[in-house]
Amino acid sequence: MIFAIESSCDESAVAIFDPARGLTGEWVSSQIDLHGRYGGVVPELAVREHLGALPLLVGEAARHADWPAVTSLAVTTGPGLAGCLALGIASAKALALARALPLTGVNHLRAHAWSAFIPVHAEAPARFPEQLAGLLPHAGLLVSGGNTALFVIHEDHRLELLGATIDDAAGEALDKGAKLLGLGYPGGPQVETHAAAGDAKAFDFPRALPDRGNLDFSFSGLKTSLRYKLADLGPEETKRRFADLCASYQAAVIDVLVRKAGFAIDRVGARSFGLSGGVAHNKALRVRLASLAVEEDIPFLPALPRHTGDNAGMIAFAAWADPYPEGADTLGWRIEPALALDARPDPRAPGEALRTSSPD
Ligand code: KG4
Repeated sequence: MIFAIESSCDESAVAIFDPARGLTGEWVSSQIDLHGRYGGVVPELAVREHLGALPLLVGEAARHADWPAVTSLAVTTGPGLAGCLALGIASAKALALARALPLTGVNHLRAHAWSAFIPVHAEAPARFPEQLAGLLPHAGLLVSGGNTALFVIHEDHRLELLGATIDDAAGEALDKGAKLLGLGYPGGPQVETHAAAGDAKAFDFPRALPDRGNLDFSFSGLKTSLRYKLADLGPEETKRRFADLCASYQAAVIDVLVRKAGFAIDRVGARSFGLSGGVAHNKALRVRLASLAVEEDIPFLPALPRHTGDNAGMIAFAAWADPYPEGADTLGWRIEPALALDARPDPRAPGEALRTSSPD
């Protein structure tokens, strides 16, 4: 079993994964209400909250853990907020020392990529390796508040980045659009709620970088175009056509994501397609991508809603399904705030030998 800790941003989380059964326990403490008051995550506050929540969550999970069966610990080393990552890593190192267990570092984004396979494993744990082999190469779309990326996981588990945003992430575009529309943070879910009553074709917002050969994204022009449109309409008309504005804006984001997902699937000859990250909550996006997968005749593997945000379930699963033999047992893990999706965490040596003095 693997006991995992995640604290990269505004959620403290712990999970236990049993390869023979799946995730046997998941604990999360969210700070979203606190940061909502400030319109975004405040790093200093996030660190304070983790400091309070992590010992409670780790303590609670530790009481449930079948310790003799736990074979290793896992922790997110990046990307994320430096102070937040440091607290998770320090907690994991303390536990590794106390329990004399190996500790592995996990790339948070790579864990999102692998989260698409958690339901596949849960359905038939014993058959997972064989099922996974039939689903690779796998094309995936990771869409969150900080990232928008298309990638492929090859047969040898190598993860290759196919394209990423060159400015705003998809979630960020929705959040910034929501702000212009006077909605709160996070904006994606609120735009979705209003969009449900609107006409997605009412306004024509731009879809950037349309070529088949280009799998990068750009959303900053979309946000600017909304700003001009709102100025044009004025407050009365904006209010009257609010649902149409939300629906058309959301459709512009979704159209680009779906179109480029199709290009990615074709380019790599994908045998499955995955969706992960916070924006994966969006129903309209899920529906469009599910039909794309039907058209492409491959399985659609969306991450479970509880694994789309920050969570430790995906960290524990990735530590098992996408192991990192070179760095399995070290206390040298350090924070890697800017770790890229296609990078491995860097397990350095724990540093120079400690200068010790012992009583005679
Ligand atoms: O992965 P995530 O929880 O965290 C960060 O990347 O920080 O993603 C949060 C993002 C936000 O931009 C939020 O607006 C977006 O996911 N989001 C949604 C929905 N739920 C969350 N976007 C569209 N529709 C939703 N239902």
